[in-house]
Amino acid sequence: MNWILLTIFMSLVIYYSEQKWIRNDKSEAIKADSDEVVIPKIITDNNRIQGSNNIKILLSNEQSTLFNILENTNRSMFITGKAGTGKSVLLKFFKEHSRKNIVSVAPTGVAALNIGGQTIHSLFKIYPGVIDLRSLKLGSEKELIKHIDTLLIDEISMVRADLIDAIDLKLKKAKKNKLPFGGVQVVMFGDLFQLPPILSDNAIKKYFEETYGGYFFFNANVWEKTSLEVYELSRIFRQKDDKFIAILNAIRTGYIGSELIEELNKRAFQNIPKTNLITLAATNNSVNRINATKLSELKDKVYEYKADIEGAIKPNEFIAEQTIRLKVGSQIMLLKNDQEKRWVNGTIGVISSLKPNEIKVKLNNVEHKIPKATWTKIKYTYDSDSNRVSEEAVGSLTQYPIRLAWAITIHKSQGQTFDSCLVDLSSGIFAHGQTYVALSRCRTLKGLYLKSPLKDSEIKVASEVVKFMKFTKTLPVNIDNTLV
Ligand SMILES: Nc1ncnc2c1ncn2[C@@H]1O[C@H](COP(=O)(O)OP(=O)(O)OP(=O)(O)O)[C@@H](O)[C@H]1O
Ligand SMILES: [Mg+2]
Repeated sequence: MNWILLTIFMSLVIYYSEQKWIRNDKSEAIKADSDEVVIPKIITDNNRIQGSNNIKILLSNEQSTLFNILENTNRSMFITGKAGTGKSVLLKFFKEHSRKNIVSVAPTGVAALNIGGQTIHSLFKIYPGVIDLRSLKLGSEKELIKHIDTLLIDEISMVRADLIDAIDLKLKKAKKNKLPFGGVQVVMFGDLFQLPPILSDNAIKKYFEETYGGYFFFNANVWEKTSLEVYELSRIFRQKDDKFIAILNAIRTGYIGSELIEELNKRAFQNIPKTNLITLAATNNSVNRINATKLSELKDKVYEYKADIEGAIKPNEFIAEQTIRLKVGSQIMLLKNDQEKRWVNGTIGVISSLKPNEIKVKLNNVEHKIPKATWTKIKYTYDSDSNRVSEEAVGSLTQYPIRLAWAITIHKSQGQTFDSCLVDLSSGIFAHGQTYVALSRCRTLKGLYLKSPLKDSEIKVASEVVKFMKFTKTLPVNIDNTLV
């Protein structure tokens, strides 16, 4: 009997704490009883890895106009724009100042960190891998998601069609409403010319082609029931220099003249600074090599941590390495979201203490002991006769979720802004938009260093994206762009 009472009590505590979380106090920005939406113009950008925090930002007219549309209607939409047009800034502003119950999510841990949100998978309690919509059930997330008015999704270019349909289904079930997304306003932010969704093998690609007609978010079935309203932000904030902007815009769509390429390639012949420079590289192998060199430059004793491996796993199949080598003072990145929400996949910190069975890391001046984590390898098979994908666990790796981070992959850099960075594509690019994402992270051409001159083969644009953007009516935000 006692335990029944305890369970009821705990459920109520969890329910009300979630309510509080989702309704976070917005009274400072907007008076609850006013009819008119007042837009506070100053917001802060405190998510930069490098450079100063708490930079004051003035919302542009374009951003303010979209804020008003989002706040005063229940329309779902896709807000796009080139890299650095302030999509994520608008998302964060809306979340902080809206009167609605808003939840913000992103496909990867780093992108979620960038907007102070959760990953889509963790919020909707969806396992990684191809989603079988027929077996999708609501679990403990129900209480939270049935109270959402608006769902904000950043970095939508990386979201696969099945995930959009899974969100649609879970919201319909939780809200007991047959309208698309259960009547929830879904606002997607991103640039399709940046990184696409990750597909682990060709069987999955084939499955998406046959089932959805493609794997991008716009291939989801839900769009057959509702139209996709698209707005485009035009003003680029991250970069100020017209020449650099012209170079980036040309790389984005894959048409770049020799004059601009020559201008960019001058950055491959500069003296590379020794400190305060983050390297963005295409592959994990390349990132590992750079980090090993940096590690060797630290004087402290080196500690080695070996992973426990079960089953059929090849080296480099996991983001965590088989053997991690660390020294006190190493710049590191955490690779898994923390259960207690103290860090997420992508948080950067510095090693503060090492023992044979213990690793401590300083994050924002607070020291944390890092527990080990387990990754499971899954194998998919697709049977086109039954149109089903099935999965099987074939191995696992247990290791500290830590990796050196003087260099990071371009995938981990998506959404970030750096004052200065070195782009190293020497291991070759493998995804559409990868070079554009890397180059467009940097604020200035002067702060950008190239490991080697850019080659034609390093500029890749997805033909599906070109086609989609060409045939989709994109609405400009119809006002002048001067700051207010
Ligand atoms: N209204 C604004 N005024 C001044 N700076 C701004 C404004 N909006 C955004 N910025 C700055 O521009 C940079 C890029 O913004 P943000 O990261 O939101 O762009 P994005 O469109 O999300 O880029 P990406 O496509 O790379 O994710 C940030 O440093 C941000 O602080
Ligand atoms: Mg962004």
